[in-house]
Amino acid sequence: MSHFVIAVDGPAAAGKGTLSRRLAAALDLAYLDTGCLYRAVAARLLEAGGDPADAEQAAAIAAQLDPADLDRDDLRSEAAGAAASRVSAHPAVRTALLDFQHRFADNPPGGRAGAVLDGRDIGTVVCPDASVKLFVTASAEARARRRYEELLARGDKVIYAEVQAEMKARDARDRDRDVAPLRAADDAVTLDSTDLSAEAVFQAALEIIAEKTGRS
Ligand code: DC
Repeated sequence: MSHFVIAVDGPAAAGKGTLSRRLAAALDLAYLDTGCLYRAVAARLLEAGGDPADAEQAAAIAAQLDPADLDRDDLRSEAAGAAASRVSAHPAVRTALLDFQHRFADNPPGGRAGAVLDGRDIGTVVCPDASVKLFVTASAEARARRRYEELLARGDKVIYAEVQAEMKARDARDRDRDVAPLRAADDAVTLDSTDLSAEAVFQAALEIIAEKTGRS
């Protein structure tokens, strides 16, 4: 991989998206939220009345993913997230989406010199040669609380215990699946955001990047 790539992995609601967006803006890099790819496949599948357990249908949708689908407003819902976690366990879906991710990393849009990709398997599978690999995590309690507040702020009617239970189920699915399970790459630096503000996580990440690459 010839471009400068920052891989940001971690469990749901650990703060990957906020961090990745800030890093991309500060370092003038393109940004891809790879969770959106799985969410877009799931949203299309649900729309077609399909079952997230149906690997064949999910893979067919993934193979024809329209980049315009990534901007849909409904991708952030709990339903899309839960279904995304299910479709993402199918190897054929992951293979179909790998090309899209490689193209993005190899030719960052806007003629930028590199890209930040966030997800579950960027440092381990999608971009194993990434210049910097960050693994952003936080306690299950802190992540459930953040996701709950995020959903409330959006006006969704949610119950904390349900958000917590769904987060637990999602963690288990993402960690225990056979293909590309969530795990930190051996050469990733772990950032635990449980007791850190978004700003502190951002500053810590900038320091790691400067240390590893000399960029600041
Ligand atoms: O990061 P997110 O919550 O938007 O991701 C939604 C689901 O997509 C997540 O539960 C697992 C899956 N996913 C994945 O398997 N690999 C990625 N690189 C990104 C997301």
